[in-house]
Amino acid sequence: MPKTKVAIVGVGTVGAGVARILLDHGDRTAKNAGATLWLEKAVVRDLSRDRDCQLPDGVLTDDLNEIINDPEIKVVAQLMGGVDEARTTMLRLLEAGKDIVTANKALVAEHGPELFSRAHELGRSIAFDAAVAGGIPIITNLTQCLTANQVTSLVGILNGTSNFIVSKMEEDGNDYNDAVREAQVRGYAEADPTMDVDGSDAAQKLAILAHIAFGASIDWKEIPRVGIDSLDPIDLQFAKELGYRVKLLAVARMTDNGLELHVSPTLVKIGRPLAEVRGAYNAIKVTGDQVGDLLYHGLGAGQKPTASSVVADMIDTAVGRTELTFRTLKLFSSHNPDVALCPP
Ligand code: NDP
Ligand code: HSE
Repeated sequence: MPKTKVAIVGVGTVGAGVARILLDHGDRTAKNAGATLWLEKAVVRDLSRDRDCQLPDGVLTDDLNEIINDPEIKVVAQLMGGVDEARTTMLRLLEAGKDIVTANKALVAEHGPELFSRAHELGRSIAFDAAVAGGIPIITNLTQCLTANQVTSLVGILNGTSNFIVSKMEEDGNDYNDAVREAQVRGYAEADPTMDVDGSDAAQKLAILAHIAFGASIDWKEIPRVGIDSLDPIDLQFAKELGYRVKLLAVARMTDNGLELHVSPTLVKIGRPLAEVRGAYNAIKVTGDQVGDLLYHGLGAGQKPTASSVVADMIDTAVGRTELTFRTLKLFSSHNPDVALCPP
């Protein structure tokens, strides 16, 4: 069975989950995909920090060059947050001939076209299913399973932290700040949770989905957005009395005036599928002109579901199923001039 040497950059919540799958369930990836992924190196900033996984001796390092200079390491899971340093790191890895898997949606939303063009020029791949909706394979579905369709709308709960916080406040009467802290402890929140609660994280994911589904290259910062940080607990109580729940919905819809995009807390009738999405779960309703409505539901944040998506992309990359990634890259580095944002 072929053995592919792989590496991880960033051993935080997601990186530790990826290391655990590779080290504890190597037999599973071998049996299910016919590929053995061998974890050769894991790069972090601070070697003295405790890690949520047991790495074999010699794997952990704070020197990216140990990956760059090892031609046998073919696939790198880039799992550090932030944008600027993450962009430079990804470019260095691509130039060194590595194929990349990432969960960093801020990076993809901000620099996707540049990075994907560069990858394309170098004949390398970048897979990023974990960047949107954690364990739900939404990128693969949009780029592979739904290509016979013109998507007409996407409506989703795309931020697990916000949904977790609102669920805690509604169901357990938790204080907002306590719920934010619990989302951080559980590993759902971004390093700076402001991006979660002000709607930015959902807007970044919506920009990625809209690019894939509608060909629209959009600056995520231009997407009108309101987060759950603007909610008062009394809003949730009144909504419930009227038979609704408040959900942070991200919407992309093709209208006669162009592409409508926004993120905002929205009243959803209790009993409707999106109203019943609780905790760190995400859901995405996709409407295609042929297939009709599809609803995807699953854990959208947290160690295991996100690592599940990352490792699936690493396996696909290792066994050479990169054709799909190349198609996505091409799609993502282009802009359909017929699609314009409609005025807010
Ligand atoms: P963490 O903050 O838990 O971990 C980040 C890791 O990156 C740390 O190990 C840190 O090292 C390392 N790191 C940061 N900068 C560098 C650098 N310059 N060189 C080497 N290592 C570096 O983040 P998460 O694991 O939660 O998230 C990682 C990415 O995945 C983010 O982009 C996030 O948005 C995304 N994501 C997260 C999900 C989640 O549920 N947590 C779900 C989906 C996507 P050190 O520990 O030494 O500081
Ligand atoms: N902070 C993000 C969320 C992680 O809560 O949805 C998953 O992308």
